[in-house]
Amino acid sequence: MGSFSFAVCVSLMLLVMVVAIPFELPKNGRRIGRLHRWWDPLIRSPVDRDDESEDKDGVRWAVLVAGSNGYGNYRHQADVCHAYQILKRGGLKDENIVVFMYDDIAKSELNPRPGVIINHPNGSDVYAGVPKDYTGEHVTAANLYAVLLGDKSAVKGGSGKIVDSKPNDRIFLYYSDHGGPGVLGMPNMPFLYAKDFIEVLKKKHAAGTYKEMVLYIEACESGSVFEGMMPEDLNIYVTTASNAEESSWGTYCPGMDPPPPPEYITCLGDLYSVAWMEDSESHNLKKETIKQQYEKVKERTSNFNNYNAGSHVMEYGSKEIKPEKVYLYQGFDPATANLSANKIAFAHVEVVNQRDADLLFLWERYKELADNSLEKAKLRKEITDTMLHRKHLDGSVDAIGVFLFGPTKGSSVLNSVREPGLPLVDDWDCLKSTVRLFELHCGSLTQYGMKHMRAFANICNNGVSRDAMEEAFMAACNERKREEYTAANRGFSA
Ligand SMILES: *[C@@H]1O[C@H](CO)[C@@H](O)[C@H](O)[C@H]1NC(C)=O
Ligand SMILES: *[C@@H]1O[C@H](CO)[C@@H](O)[C@H](O)[C@H]1NC(C)=O
Repeated sequence: MGSFSFAVCVSLMLLVMVVAIPFELPKNGRRIGRLHRWWDPLIRSPVDRDDESEDKDGVRWAVLVAGSNGYGNYRHQADVCHAYQILKRGGLKDENIVVFMYDDIAKSELNPRPGVIINHPNGSDVYAGVPKDYTGEHVTAANLYAVLLGDKSAVKGGSGKIVDSKPNDRIFLYYSDHGGPGVLGMPNMPFLYAKDFIEVLKKKHAAGTYKEMVLYIEACESGSVFEGMMPEDLNIYVTTASNAEESSWGTYCPGMDPPPPPEYITCLGDLYSVAWMEDSESHNLKKETIKQQYEKVKERTSNFNNYNAGSHVMEYGSKEIKPEKVYLYQGFDPATANLSANKIAFAHVEVVNQRDADLLFLWERYKELADNSLEKAKLRKEITDTMLHRKHLDGSVDAIGVFLFGPTKGSSVLNSVREPGLPLVDDWDCLKSTVRLFELHCGSLTQYGMKHMRAFANICNNGVSRDAMEEAFMAACNERKREEYTAANRGFSA
């Protein structure tokens, strides 16, 4: 466990005068309620007017994806439920919000507040009302692609809700989970691979069934899904929690500042995710631009420029979307009418590397259990097995590097990061088949092992033959495979 790094920082308060804000309800009747008109319409800026007219006949769609399961990953589903509440208050309709979440948190026996999920230490329930479109075994990359493409016939299970969008519509996609170079996690195998996802976005663009799209992605190495992959002419703007080669961070974790309520043994949120959501909740989204939100989230997620406890928020795709107002994607909550567009006020928080958050959870549980209980003995084995499998994966990849490229170059070849603007790998099919071959001989990568995707990518980038790969994988792993981690038991991640 050791190093939960943190920095002590001073929070910067920027006092912003709250002035009378010109705003108007859209005329398309999609939002309910009337607000008193208390401004002079003549002071409305042309930008506001443009947004209003652009908003006139489009529908807002949203796709929310929590890519994990298990109580130790509480925070990803909490993030996604919270996002749903923001969009709902913003006036988006349930029929236009598609939610992917495993749905094993609220009813988990470890949940101290049955039926409730929170995403902030002082937060209220964010679970109530969340549509259960794709849960359990139906949270898959294939269903996500089918939903985005509006292809009802390709959807397997779930509510069957799809993004049936029209040319004037806007789509907001938010994803939270573990990731690795070139991949995002899913609770059911296989992972989401960058190439497949970008192909889906291209197909959606070619179908002409949206005006613009905004994607917010939280995962370790999430930049690597878009780096060198994301075209700039799809009318899609993307921000990611981290660059192509760093972790993203869990927050509101037990034993950290600020801590969750004492009865919680798991982290409640992720740093980038709570940064955008708490920003959206505390500003008038008819005034705040996508650019302003990006900049504030970037600043907060850097955790005061401490990249041992924060990450570099990145942007990709169609930057011309940035001057647009956030409400075009996330809607507008009338209760925020008098808030400003751009007040910056956040405190330093302690965080844990996403990959250590699992261990933190196991350890917190371990400490709670009575010393001689059977449960504690089981958990002791689980923690030991987890640590041994991590070492096994790390050691196997190191050995494979030695077999393929020699002892002096092995590690530098496997870990080498390509120049910015280049994709992780040229041949994505090679990456997938290499991952399958590795898992066949060495066992499941698991959530943790996603970090080794770059090694497999570099094996492909160096043109290693399949025979040479297989020989190295067998040499490194065949004596040491652990039964509970075989890919036959856990599924292949490619
Ligand atoms: C939660 O509320 C308490 C009491 O108002 C406050 O002292 C604390 O700072 C809040 N925690 C966070 C993380 O905002
Ligand atoms: C915004 O401010 C106006 C003027 O002070 C007030 O009448 C109105 O109730 C406020 N709206 C909200 C949602 O707080």
